[in-house]
Amino acid sequence: MTPCGNNFICVLGVLLCVCFRVFSSVTEQQRTVSLNGKWGLSSSDGSLSLTAQVPGCVHSALQQQGYIQDPYFRFNDVSYQWIALDNWTYTTVFAVSAQLRARQKVLLVFDGVDTVASVWLNGITVGKTDNMFRRYDFSVRDLLRDGDNVLNVSLLSPVLYASEQRKAHSAYRVPPECPPDVQKGECHVNFIRKEQSSFSWDWGPSFPTMGLWKDVRLEAFDILQLVQISSVPLYNYSRSQWTVQVELLVDAVETTTGQITLSIPELDSDQTFQTEFLSGKTKNIFILNINTSDQVKLWWPNGHGDQPFYLLTLRGFQDGLLILNTESKVYFRTVELVQEPVVGSPGLSFYFRINGKPVFLKGSNWIPAHSFQDQVTPAVLKNLLQSAVDANMNALRVWGGGVYEQDLFYSICDELGIMVWQDFMFACATYPTEDRFIQTVREEVVQQVRRLKSHPSIIIWSGNNENEAALATDWFNIPAPQKSTYIKDYVTLYVNNIRKIVQEEDQSRPFLVSSPTNGAESEQEGWVAANPYDPHYGDTHFYSYILDCWDWRTFPRTRFASEYGFQSWPSFSTLQPVSVNEDWSYNSNFSSHRQHHEAGNQEMLLQAAFHFHLPNSTEPLKRFTDTLYITQVMQAQCVKTQTEFYQRSRSEIIEGKGRTMGALYWQLNDIWQAPSWSSVEFGGKWKMLHYFAQSFFSAVLPVGFEDNNTLLIYAVSDLNQDLKLRAVVTVYSWADLDPVCTLKSDLILVPGGSAVPIFKEPVATLLVGCGRCTRLTCLLTFHLEDPSSVQQGPTNHHFLCSPKEAQGLQRPNITAKVQEGKSSYTVTLHSASVAPFVWLDVGNIPGRFSSNGFLMVSRNMTVSFNAWRPTSVAELSKYLTITSLRDVY
Ligand SMILES: *[C@@H]1O[C@H](CO)[C@@H](O)[C@H](O)[C@H]1NC(C)=O
Ligand SMILES: *[C@@H]1O[C@H](CO)[C@@H](O)[C@H](O)[C@H]1NC(C)=O
Ligand SMILES: *[C@@H]1O[C@H](CO)[C@@H](O)[C@H](O)[C@H]1NC(C)=O
Ligand SMILES: *[C@@H]1O[C@H](CO)[C@@H](O)[C@H](O)[C@H]1NC(C)=O
Ligand SMILES: *[C@@H]1O[C@H](CO)[C@@H](O)[C@H](O)[C@H]1NC(C)=O
Ligand SMILES: *[C@@H]1O[C@H](CO)[C@@H](O)[C@H](O)[C@H]1NC(C)=O
Ligand SMILES: *[C@@H]1O[C@H](CO)[C@@H](O)[C@H](O)[C@H]1NC(C)=O
Ligand SMILES: *[C@@H]1O[C@H](CO)[C@@H](O)[C@H](O)[C@H]1NC(C)=O
Ligand SMILES: *[C@@H]1O[C@H](CO)[C@@H](O)[C@H](O)[C@H]1NC(C)=O
Repeated sequence: MTPCGNNFICVLGVLLCVCFRVFSSVTEQQRTVSLNGKWGLSSSDGSLSLTAQVPGCVHSALQQQGYIQDPYFRFNDVSYQWIALDNWTYTTVFAVSAQLRARQKVLLVFDGVDTVASVWLNGITVGKTDNMFRRYDFSVRDLLRDGDNVLNVSLLSPVLYASEQRKAHSAYRVPPECPPDVQKGECHVNFIRKEQSSFSWDWGPSFPTMGLWKDVRLEAFDILQLVQISSVPLYNYSRSQWTVQVELLVDAVETTTGQITLSIPELDSDQTFQTEFLSGKTKNIFILNINTSDQVKLWWPNGHGDQPFYLLTLRGFQDGLLILNTESKVYFRTVELVQEPVVGSPGLSFYFRINGKPVFLKGSNWIPAHSFQDQVTPAVLKNLLQSAVDANMNALRVWGGGVYEQDLFYSICDELGIMVWQDFMFACATYPTEDRFIQTVREEVVQQVRRLKSHPSIIIWSGNNENEAALATDWFNIPAPQKSTYIKDYVTLYVNNIRKIVQEEDQSRPFLVSSPTNGAESEQEGWVAANPYDPHYGDTHFYSYILDCWDWRTFPRTRFASEYGFQSWPSFSTLQPVSVNEDWSYNSNFSSHRQHHEAGNQEMLLQAAFHFHLPNSTEPLKRFTDTLYITQVMQAQCVKTQTEFYQRSRSEIIEGKGRTMGALYWQLNDIWQAPSWSSVEFGGKWKMLHYFAQSFFSAVLPVGFEDNNTLLIYAVSDLNQDLKLRAVVTVYSWADLDPVCTLKSDLILVPGGSAVPIFKEPVATLLVGCGRCTRLTCLLTFHLEDPSSVQQGPTNHHFLCSPKEAQGLQRPNITAKVQEGKSSYTVTLHSASVAPFVWLDVGNIPGRFSSNGFLMVSRNMTVSFNAWRPTSVAELSKYLTITSLRDVY
């Protein structure tokens, strides 16, 4: 079934819609015909032949047409391996008007082909593709004909292609040949310019997608057409002067002279340029001076200010005829990556200065939101990015094993004030450097930088994920005599090509070659440092599952923590749709199958068992759901401890280390329903960690920890202004909801953007002063308050022993009453005793609680639930479950 029976009308229909949409940005000279919609799709031997949506991919089409089940169901990632081992052909038939064919130039444009394909129009090959991250266009005017035109895109199995490329590269290994068995993935993904995690990752399934994953269209024009516009504000520090560098990528039929007028009316800036567009595709740069630079309103990261923008209009005339007419948003901000000597410390600082102000990056790492990019809808993006902001994040790193995200992702980040650390898509591998590979990467880099550089959200480009570390610490057992070959390839790809292109294309933001890296020091050491994890330089990634995460001494006191984290399982309601009864135990085949990190399930329990009794209900389903819960408690507490350590290290140098200015935990989101390091589950449900992040990333934060049996509390402030704060510590007995005692520190000045110790007392002294308390019988909460005793920031807690050793902890028997409030539902809780890690869950009713996973030290408490679809008191009451630590054993 197609939406209209007649192809000709269909094309006209599309033409009309497209006109309305695009005409604001193109001129009368240009016509665009979308070829999106229903195409034919067939397998190599024709045994499968179906309708497929474009943009889309083979897997999605097969599922939508009922040929396969949900690929995420149970073990289907393995069952459906055959899909990517086959070759597939997409076909469409379309008509074009005589007027369109009469244009001087007609281009067939693919915004994204995944990945290796030949393109045929009316039986003639018009071109080939080999890189998912490139836009391709082919000149087709003379191939178009009256009536039906047949367009085929013949896709080669990416698995087969990768393996053939590997075979062709006989000179030396380009490791890691294959992923670990536990990932059940495909080999040699580093030989194909495609989402690297699509061949499996330690948090994701192997679905090597194939398809037309972005728009397809015809573009017809006379004279010239605008392929791309970018506008990058540049600040001249010595003149205190803004300019906007406007770059036009123009495709001109023949050399054309004309006039370009650029203006930002709101800033009284207007300039006209005489120009010549050379024939063919050319880059044309115009500099607009902002005469009123002192009035420019700046874009700020979330938590530091607003995100205002200005409209820039561009008009191009040739002999009085309007040939270009477009508008774009311009956001003004500066970014510097500061690497300079630090007093009292060897090495160099590593922090970002935005609009001249040092900013602590608080956030996480972003992975692809779905194996099938066509299913990453605007709603999915908005929900995830809003979740980041709602957890007080100001930064995300778009990790180098996924995709350069769609335009909307960056536009939302611009609007929400999320700073983006943008990797190039190379991860955890060595890569070939044959000319063909380098050439396609060069085009990829040019295109991506031009596409994305107008976004203020992107504050840094970074060449790859962990490839410097992989060479430096020999992940791939490369024999010493060969190491120089690999380092040479590394420098060729990331330094001599990618870095060079980025520096030519974009002067407005820094470039790093890798993450983790020692930055300027790595450069000194020939780009691959002896120890890229050195805490005195650059950024670090740090993972340990064996050491007790409650002990902050195990964490590196780094300049910038760009990756760290712990796994947990998603909630039962997320797993249920992709599993059946026999899967619902921690030791089921399903539970092992979904775990792609070697020994991951055991490691979670090992870490949890340091401080908690493991669930031991005799009822199997309860034991399973309790185990999911305890992994989330463990993860939330571990990442909290580590993040708070980084937050409080921002102003200090201790033993030569510190001045930490970033904490981006691994990872924000999930690609499917499985255990992973994420804080948001597939589908958008917040794990306990994400609720914790809302607190540990708040603008004002009290951090408590022990050093030599002394309790210290730091006040951490990300505000612009100074505060006077005191710490208020309340001691509770595990056995009783009435506080035992309360202590207050003196008021202390907490400068904006700093972390200062505010309370210090030996634990023994504190307990003695408090009367009937020991480490085993008591715990404490603490918060900050200002001189008028108004609380600033969240209330935090500190356990004086592991909860598994706590004496007096009882089943709290929490009861709840759900009521309808003004804009959300309220849940009023009543507890009979102290309850740690109180977790409210309403099954698959989508939405978010105002607070969750909290320590309940009061008899009554009210939280709200914001539902994302209509629901009712009755439905919520029916599905509401409440779990706290003492309920699982
Ligand atoms: C896919 O195409 C390649 C190249 O033409 C061919 O070698 C391979 O056998 C094809 N695979 C299938 C399953 O037909
Ligand atoms: C292209 O599509 C047409 C029409 O469906 C079909 O007849 C032809 O075999 C296809 N060509 C290729 C190379 O797949
Ligand atoms: C800034 O302006 C000064 C003075 O006009 C000029 O010499 C310098 O080259 C400019 N700097 C940049 C980065 O454009
Ligand atoms: C802005 O400054 C430029 C020179 O820097 C000048 O040519 C132009 O006339 C000025 N525009 C306005 C609106 O003041
Ligand atoms: C689990 O997988 C193993 C190995 O594939 C198989 O032998 C066993 O029957 C499976 N168990 C269940 C309960 O499905
Ligand atoms: C803890 O002890 C170490 C070693 O004696 C000392 O360097 C450090 O300053 C002490 N910390 C506190 C908070 O007293
Ligand atoms: C919770 O209920 C159980 C069973 O009724 C009871 O033994 C226990 O004392 C209650 N807990 C508290 C704190 O009252
Ligand atoms: C707490 O809740 C209980 C039971 O819902 C109620 O009887 C009591 O009055 C409440 N206490 C306070 C202080 O609100
Ligand atoms: C579960 O573990 C707790 C704590 O170790 C223990 O007291 C309890 O008896 C165990 N319950 C069962 C059913 O094994």
